[in-house]
Amino acid sequence: MSDFQTWMGQVQASTETALAAHLPAADAIPQRLHQAMRYAALGGGKRVRPLLAHAAGALTQAPIERLEAAACAVELIHAYSLVHDDLPCMDDDVLRRGRPTCHVEYDEATALLVGDALQTRAFEILSRPGLADPAQQLEMVALLAHASGSLGMCGGQAIDLGSVGQALNQPELELMHALKTGALIRAAVLLGALCGDPLETRQREQLDRFAKRAGLLFQVVDDILDCTASTATLGKTAGKDEAADKPTYVSLLGLEGAKSYAEELRADALDALALFGDRARRLTELADFICHRHF
Ligand code: IPE
Ligand code: IPE
Ligand code: MG
Ligand code: MG
Ligand code: MG
Repeated sequence: MSDFQTWMGQVQASTETALAAHLPAADAIPQRLHQAMRYAALGGGKRVRPLLAHAAGALTQAPIERLEAAACAVELIHAYSLVHDDLPCMDDDVLRRGRPTCHVEYDEATALLVGDALQTRAFEILSRPGLADPAQQLEMVALLAHASGSLGMCGGQAIDLGSVGQALNQPELELMHALKTGALIRAAVLLGALCGDPLETRQREQLDRFAKRAGLLFQVVDDILDCTASTATLGKTAGKDEAADKPTYVSLLGLEGAKSYAEELRADALDALALFGDRARRLTELADFICHRHF
């Protein structure tokens, strides 16, 4: 196993433990809601956003307990977004992380509440008194709120649902992807860095450039995998973008075009990290992982 894989496994395991501790116990009333929240957030997923937060924290000497809180907060927002994304009124999916989706395993109303409750739990974790300097903490809360809302993930999801059956041009598609997936990925990177010492202006700009490129790259690859990988490998229904007539990078550029665009984004993301030298090693490795993953 490579050094990167070992590190990845460690962050994934510590994120799992931290998430399990941050979520209400399965036997706490109302039990069904808490069981469903744990079902949606635990025991699956690549944990890319927590990995990015930890990797970015290495740039600013961020303390581990703060990074863990930031990583859990962003992962809970992500888990909520998946629960809602799979609902019949959105993508209407039955499989997620190799298991029945939350509304299939439980019911639609519970899945709706799971999303609501995971979201508020994320902000509770991030606003815990004493986690960081209050001004720094407030900045983190505001950043995650903005990335999750109508000018971030929710806005992207709205554009996604409104674009069914339409041929978007590249700037329109880029905006949709930058919002629905890019915003949370970007937030994960910036939150990780914000957990530690302040960056200089130039460093902040370049880290943000990396975060934006990595975020867009993530969804370009998600589009590619939707039409190249199997349901068994993905743990979610393959081929659903084409079936639902959604505009994607593959429908816009073709498969080869989408792959070479992904490589371009990866190269640009790595270029943005140049000024950090070896401290950005994990971020570099994560950009490679995001670009070349098979699931
Ligand atoms: C899938 O996200 C949904 C998108 C935002 C593209 P991930 O591919 O990160 O899903 P998990 O967390 O690993 O299951
Ligand atoms: C999901 O995009 C984006 C969010 C959940 C915010 P997709 O709809 O493409 O994600 P998958 O393919 O279902 O994981
Ligand atoms: Mg969707
Ligand atoms: Mg979906
Ligand atoms: Mg997809």
